Amino acid sequence: MPLKVRKPYVIAQEGDHTFIWLGLDEAEAEKGILTNQYLIMDGGEGILLDPGGYFVFERVYRNVAEFINPEKVKAVFFTHQDPDVIGSLLPLTEFFPNATIYVSSLWVRFLPHLGALTGLRLVEIPDEGTTIKVGKAELRTVPAHFLHSPGNFSLYDPKVKVLFSGDIGAAVFPEGTWYLFVKDFENHVKLMEPFHRRYLPCRKALEAWLRHVKQLEVKVIAPQHGAIFVGDNVRKFLKWLESLEEIGADLL
Ligand SMILES: [Fe+2]
Ligand SMILES: [Fe+2]
Repeated sequence: MPLKVRKPYVIAQEGDHTFIWLGLDEAEAEKGILTNQYLIMDGGEGILLDPGGYFVFERVYRNVAEFINPEKVKAVFFTHQDPDVIGSLLPLTEFFPNATIYVSSLWVRFLPHLGALTGLRLVEIPDEGTTIKVGKAELRTVPAHFLHSPGNFSLYDPKVKVLFSGDIGAAVFPEGTWYLFVKDFENHVKLMEPFHRRYLPCRKALEAWLRHVKQLEVKVIAPQHGAIFVGDNVRKFLKWLESLEEIGADLL
């Protein structure tokens, strides 16, 4: 089966507020695990969510520029410090000159190691989370510590009720398989289970995140790897997480 280039897709929209999945080139799988990037736009301003590694930057930039002037991208949100999240930091600071980077206070001191020192505008997210203003939208960072990074956040968009969950909900597609939205949940679980059992540290961390998420009205869960959960699959996914009795160190 030939590898495909997938175009960006608008996941949710309300007035001038848009939540966009930023496309994919299936050939990226040869250079590392496939990743999803997202752009939220509100009132002519934008924020990038986990913009990704070095090799995907060109595609991400091109696709963002289809929707918004890159100078209007005011913020970049990093869920955590992994290379597939922050690896494009250097070109990011050059091509999105007005973006402030939001990252857990645990990781701020590590970012300069990517060689980006001058002109880096960083906001440390405290453990309890913060609000990021983009246009008129107020996006909320949701504590997701230890899942899998010790300083880790999801991001909730209350306008369209989309939860960007970072690595939580990650699925790894076998060669020749790819889809943007989960359809067959039971089958999709097989692609998520190995990651969640090994990379997530323990049941206690998962329970803390689930407590936060239950306070939110969530219509869509969009992870950094794999496929997006909509409608009843949101409920099924949260229920599945709850059913994971032993993960990570619990299994030692
Ligand atoms: Fe990660
Ligand atoms: Fe990741």
